[in-house]
Amino acid sequence: MNTTKITIAIDGYSSTGKSTVAKQIANYLGYVYVDSGAMYRAVTLYAVQNNMISPEHFNKQKLIDALDDIHLFFKFNPKKGFAEMYLNDKNVEKAIRTMAISNLVSKVAATPEVRKKLVQYQRQMGENEGVVMDGRDIGTVVFPEADLKIFMTASAETRARRRYDELKERGDDVSFEEVLKNVQDRDHIDTNRKDSPLIKAEDAVEIDNSNLSLEDQFNTVLNLVKKTIESK
Ligand code: DC
Repeated sequence: MNTTKITIAIDGYSSTGKSTVAKQIANYLGYVYVDSGAMYRAVTLYAVQNNMISPEHFNKQKLIDALDDIHLFFKFNPKKGFAEMYLNDKNVEKAIRTMAISNLVSKVAATPEVRKKLVQYQRQMGENEGVVMDGRDIGTVVFPEADLKIFMTASAETRARRRYDELKERGDDVSFEEVLKNVQDRDHIDTNRKDSPLIKAEDAVEIDNSNLSLEDQFNTVLNLVKKTIESK
């Protein structure tokens, strides 16, 4: 493979395994991996901690006014092999993955001022090529010129099952129905919001991984990466 560095955008519905394949590809190529969803989750955690959002209310203006006080960065954890999310100097990698945050994040992510701030951050992180970023709007808004765009899909049941198994393994007390409802609700909000809705970029390659093993999925994406690099 030649050594040209490319920008890879991986978008798709929640819990499609985007981050798993994105991390594998980034490690394989020695690229930076950016989990843009973690950033929306960290802003949501900040809003929860500062009583700006709960299942009953969302004081959007209070969050918008506080945006300059929210500092986000990723720090590589060599033991885990990926970069963890920090919110105002605190490692929040675990705290942002709870159901409570999953249930509120789509509302925060639908706020244009929040998106503007995070898109700026994301573009800076991808400035020096050699990046794999996953999210909902990476190929459409953050990097419309990305060299390779992938759109991951899988049925809602398949995604909920994977997410449920992950949460159970962590010891979280959740029901499958609750996780399925969260996946379906987030699909609805993410695809119907006014600002940067989740849509497949025209030039994205769609991969339905409902019936793909992790290895097959990795090889499918790696082949696309190789082709893209060779064509440069
Ligand atoms: O990828 P994830 O499930 O951790 O993302 C959490 C939420 O953040 C998701 O419901 C939608 C939102 N999100 C977004 O709006 N834009 C992105 N680029 C990434 C995530």
